[in-house]
Amino acid sequence: MRTLVILCLLCLHTLSIYANGEGSEPRLLFVFGDSYADTGNTPPNTTASWKVPYGMFWPGSPSGRWSDGFVSTDILASTLGIPSPTQYARLALNVTISGGVNFAVGGSGVTYAFGTPPFQTQAGWFANLVAAGLFTQEDLSRALFYVSVVGNDYSAYNGSLDGYFPLSHKVPLLIDQTLRTLYSLGARNFIVSSLTPLDCVPSRTAPSGFTECEKNTTTDAVILGHNHFLGNRLENITRKLENSSVLYLQQTKAMRYVLNHLSEFNLTEGLKPCCVGQCGAVNVTTGIPLYTVCENPEDHFFWDGVHPTGAGWKAVVGLYNRPRFTWFARTLSAWIGNLRL
Ligand SMILES: *[C@@H]1O[C@H](CO)[C@@H](O)[C@H](O)[C@H]1NC(C)=O
Ligand SMILES: *[C@@H]1O[C@H](CO)[C@@H](O)[C@H](O)[C@H]1NC(C)=O
Ligand SMILES: *[C@@H]1O[C@H](CO)[C@@H](O)[C@H](O)[C@H]1NC(C)=O
Ligand SMILES: *[C@@H]1O[C@H](CO)[C@@H](O)[C@H](O)[C@H]1NC(C)=O
Ligand SMILES: *[C@@H]1O[C@H](CO)[C@@H](O)[C@H](O)[C@H]1NC(C)=O
Ligand SMILES: *[C@@H]1O[C@H](CO)[C@@H](O)[C@H](O)[C@H]1NC(C)=O
Ligand SMILES: *[C@@H]1O[C@H](CO)[C@@H](O)[C@H](O)[C@H]1NC(C)=O
Ligand SMILES: *[C@@H]1O[C@H](CO)[C@@H](O)[C@H](O)[C@H]1NC(C)=O
Repeated sequence: MRTLVILCLLCLHTLSIYANGEGSEPRLLFVFGDSYADTGNTPPNTTASWKVPYGMFWPGSPSGRWSDGFVSTDILASTLGIPSPTQYARLALNVTISGGVNFAVGGSGVTYAFGTPPFQTQAGWFANLVAAGLFTQEDLSRALFYVSVVGNDYSAYNGSLDGYFPLSHKVPLLIDQTLRTLYSLGARNFIVSSLTPLDCVPSRTAPSGFTECEKNTTTDAVILGHNHFLGNRLENITRKLENSSVLYLQQTKAMRYVLNHLSEFNLTEGLKPCCVGQCGAVNVTTGIPLYTVCENPEDHFFWDGVHPTGAGWKAVVGLYNRPRFTWFARTLSAWIGNLRL
C-alpha cells in the first residue's frame, strides 16, 4: 500500500477532479470503511469479490465488489446524483477522479478486524491526497464523507467473551477519533452507518437453515450498545465541531425493516442468500464450485454469507429517504437540503 501511495503521488499532477455539482449540489463523495462500501480496492484475484459469481448481475463479471452488482456506495452516489467515486486503488493508474475517492477496503474496521487496512489507515491515505493539494478546503467543506464501519471488529473478534462487550465502547470511540481526524483535514459533512444486523447475516443464520435470526443476548447487547454509543459520539461532533453536520444512518433498523417487509421491495428471499456455500471458491483439483448460486439474485436480500445483493442495497438506501431511518435529520434528502454547501 505504501508503494501505491508513492505511485499515486507521482501522478497527481495528471489527475483532475470531476466537478459535477451545480449551485448547492455536493460535489464530491469520499468513502471509508469495509466491504459494504468497497467498490474494488482489494487487489484483483486476492479475494472472493474478484471471483465468479461476484458481479454476475452487474457488470456481469467480478468487479471487486462484495455483491452480485452494486454496493451501498454506488446506490448512495446515484441517489446523490454523483458518479460512484473512483477507487483509491485505481489512482495509481492515472485515472480521472470522478465523484470523489473511495478508500474502503473489504474486511476492515477500526481494530485489527480481518487485518485489512483499517479506517485510520484509510484516513491517512486521504490525508496524503489533501497534503498533495489535490482538493481545496472549499471542495472539502462541500464534500460528503460516508463511513461504513459496520461489524468486522465484532465478527473477527477472537478474544475472550469478557472482552467482547467492551468493544461496543471502543469501536465507536475509534470511529469518533478518526472522524475528528477527517474534520481536522477539512471534512465537514459526515454520513455514518450503524451496524449490520450481525444476528441476521446468513453466516449466523445458516444453523437454522436460514429461517431465523440468531438468538444471542450477547450479540443483541453489542449491537444496541454500539449503535447507542456511536450515536452519542456523533451527536457530540455535530454540537461541538464548528460547521460540522452528521447524518447517522440507522442501517440495523433499515435492514431489519427490509427483511420483515420483503414484498414491499419486490424481494422474495430474506435470510437465505443467493450464493450459498463458499461463494467464489472452487475445488482446486476438480474446478467444481464450492457454492450454489440462485438464478435471480434480484429476488434476494442477501447475496452471500454477509453481504446484501444490489437489490437489497437499493431497498436499504431507499429507506434513508423515509422518515425514522436516519438520526439528526428527518431524511437523507432533508439533510442534504439543509447543508450549507
Ligand atoms: C485474475 O482472474 C482472472 C479471471 O479468473 C484471470 O483471467 C486473470 O489471469 C487473473 N489475474 C491474475 C493476475 O492472476
Ligand atoms: C495521464 O493521463 C493524462 C490525461 O488522460 C495524459 O495526458 C497523460 O499522458 C497520462 N500520463 C501518464 C503517465 O500516463
Ligand atoms: C486473533 O486476532 C488477532 C488480532 O486481534 C490476530 O492477530 C490473530 O491472527 C487472530 N487469531 C486467529 C486464530 O484468527
Ligand atoms: C453468543 O455470541 C458470543 C459472541 O459471538 C459467543 O461467544 C457465544 O458463544 C454466543 N452464545 C450462544 C449461546 O450462542
Ligand atoms: C464532546 O466533544 C468535546 C469537544 O470535541 C469534548 O471535549 C467532550 O469530551 C465530548 N463529550 C463527550 C461526552 O464525548
Ligand atoms: C465555518 O463557516 C464559516 C462560514 O462559511 C466560516 O467563515 C468559518 O471559517 C468556518 N469555520 C470552520 C471551523 O470551518
Ligand atoms: C415492484 O414491481 C412492480 C411490478 O413490476 C413495480 O411496479 C414496482 O415499482 C416495483 N417496486 C419496487 C419498490 O421496486
Ligand atoms: C476436491 O475434490 C477432490 C476430488 O473429488 C476431493 O477429494 C476433495 O475432497 C475436494 N475438496 C474439497 C475442499 O471439496
